[in-house]
Amino acid sequence: MSAPDGPLAAPLPAGRSWTAAGPPSGDSHSGDSPSGGELPPGAPPAAAEIFGPALGVAVRYAELLAGPGVERGLLGPAEAARLWDRHLLNCGVVAELVPSPCSLIDLGSGAGLPGIVLAILLPAVSVTLLEPMARRVAFLTECVQILGLGNAEVRRGRAEEMAGRLSADVVTARAVAPMYKLAGLAIGLANPGGVVLAIKGAGAAAEVSRARPVLNRLGARDVEVLHAGSGRVNPAATVIRFTAGQVRGKVPGRGVVGGDEPVPSGRRLARGSAVRSRGGPRGGARSRRGRG
Ligand SMILES: C[S@@+](CC[C@H](N)C(=O)[O-])C[C@H]1O[C@@H](n2cnc3c(N)ncnc32)[C@H](O)[C@@H]1O
Repeated sequence: MSAPDGPLAAPLPAGRSWTAAGPPSGDSHSGDSPSGGELPPGAPPAAAEIFGPALGVAVRYAELLAGPGVERGLLGPAEAARLWDRHLLNCGVVAELVPSPCSLIDLGSGAGLPGIVLAILLPAVSVTLLEPMARRVAFLTECVQILGLGNAEVRRGRAEEMAGRLSADVVTARAVAPMYKLAGLAIGLANPGGVVLAIKGAGAAAEVSRARPVLNRLGARDVEVLHAGSGRVNPAATVIRFTAGQVRGKVPGRGVVGGDEPVPSGRRLARGSAVRSRGGPRGGARSRRGRG
């Protein structure tokens, strides 16, 4: 993360590489499959199983991450060597938790993880890549174009600002914030009854424990820690999944949620601490497009 945010000096390269025929078009995302069952350099065997006919597009995305993504400081140089296991497969297996079709917001998408990977794998899912930082937004926009992802769009903004302007059936997040804070941000973007999928590490259960008071106050239901991709990738991806309440962001008698510090259970909430009122009705379910 060394380069400053701002307009990009150079566009992404045109992409003559392993997928030399270029990005796919249409909505199948089938891409260029490796011929003769060969895997591209650095891709483990699980890559072919996880991505199937979309492997060619995934390979092209991996090249963008390892090339311009690293050059522009969006990923550390050390990540290039472990792109598949640590990033693409870790995100790809989360597709098994996403209903299709649906709308999905990837909160804090960064260089597109997991949002671009899910858009590649799930062409019937309408993916919004939400990211506040200009340099990352530019990279995401170019990736969407180069990869031919007709089911993905990029929105610049912070989750707090977009709550009430943007919403989806599923909200994903990886490496954005601790759960006690992320819960409010994600629920603010979820449709009533929508699902939040937070990709976490080994400390997921502890995060849930710490966030439990906040999750309860926000009306989160069915909170659980899952392992996606068990038996397919090693390690499996650890995901905190919960369902947003039926009334978006509304806590009975407390106004509307924010993403704040945990409040010890039993302690009375002070105004402006764990739950904030934004004042005024927020309306019902909203379309994710054409707003804000
Ligand atoms: C550590 S990066 C992770 C990026 C990506 N999800 C990944 O796993 O590689 C965290 C990202 O979240 C974004 N972010 C942080 N706070 C945010 C907020 N309140 N709303 C939206 N995005 C946010 C940052 O700009 C950054 O791109």
